[in-house]
Amino acid sequence: MKGIILHGGHGTRLRPLTHTGPKQLLPIANKAMSQYALEDLKSTGVTEIGIIIGDVYPEKVKEYYGTGEKFGVKISYIYQEAPKGISHAVRLCKDFIGNDKFIVYLGDNVLRKNLNDYTKKFEASDSDAMILLCEVDEPQRFGIAELDKDNPGKIKKIIEKPKEPKSNLAVIGIYFLTSKIFDIIDNLKPSWRGELEITDALDMLMNQGNKIDYDIVTGWWKDTGTPEDIIHANKLVLDSIGTENQFLIDKDSKISKNIVIGNGTEISRDSIVTGPAIIGKNCKIGPSVRLGPYISVGDNCILKNCTLEESIIMANCDINAKVDLSSSIIANSSEIKGNKIPKKQQFLLGERSNLKV
Ligand code: TTP
Repeated sequence: MKGIILHGGHGTRLRPLTHTGPKQLLPIANKAMSQYALEDLKSTGVTEIGIIIGDVYPEKVKEYYGTGEKFGVKISYIYQEAPKGISHAVRLCKDFIGNDKFIVYLGDNVLRKNLNDYTKKFEASDSDAMILLCEVDEPQRFGIAELDKDNPGKIKKIIEKPKEPKSNLAVIGIYFLTSKIFDIIDNLKPSWRGELEITDALDMLMNQGNKIDYDIVTGWWKDTGTPEDIIHANKLVLDSIGTENQFLIDKDSKISKNIVIGNGTEISRDSIVTGPAIIGKNCKIGPSVRLGPYISVGDNCILKNCTLEESIIMANCDINAKVDLSSSIIANSSEIKGNKIPKKQQFLLGERSNLKV
């Protein structure tokens, strides 16, 4: 089996963070979002991976993943000139895939449970596709599958963002496919939003008498399209520290209970870290810092006098201010300086921001 990671799109809902790079490289618990997808594919035995890169700093994706060697996989890059839809991106992979079965993983999706069982099931089956479903609270926001009540195990219809959803089972951004999908996409028309939708391709595949299996995922699934989603994904991943299937496997870090601290990081005595938390390498924390719970701090940060919870501070930031931040994202190399702000604040700062408070 081969794997495809979608790394295109514009990430408009994540601006200003996506003014300086693709959203899939934004860190969740100090690891690029799409690296979770890559590691999930690798752990299920998929090592030949195509990465779809778009027009938002594609060179940063190549710089991060390179040939794939340091991640133990082999990467080919496939260029999508504009975000014309997930089906459009999948169609670009026809030559790369050949006649293999393959897994498409949206680079902004994170899944609690690994893919091993699903992959085994699909490999052993004669299905033309398999999708994963997850119960959601607001089905109008997702591609939704309606199950066939008369035929257990069968899907009746797959529909993108229905106004009146017939179920709350969202089709998550991990698709198990065969090369049959390519001819289907060739006959697909763009949707009302001008995209070649993957849900339309799957629905057409099914309507033409092909066999589509599904499974319902256990554990959480997160699609990280907005800043709130990223903060939530950060919390979910940090909750795994110290559990059997933990997401954090940086061997150089020290882990005590549910706090991970990188090499060379100093925390001065009048500072307190409350887990779950991850702090990168070579940071200087203190004096008078309160960190956590649910905080991720990247490498080489200098933090003084601040209180931070449920937030992501990316690498090389310098915060020396009596701020009290919650649900905030501060992108790489940003600076916050100044005096006391009286109440809790929520900041969303793009790369190299400079804020005086
Ligand atoms: P979306 O979140 O639907 O789109 P987006 O990333 O452009 O974000 P926004 O709506 O905020 O502008 O995309 C889902 C995933 O698929 C995401 O990882 C980006 C990827 N993608 C592509 O690679 N190519 C595409 O043509 C599209 C539409 C998405």
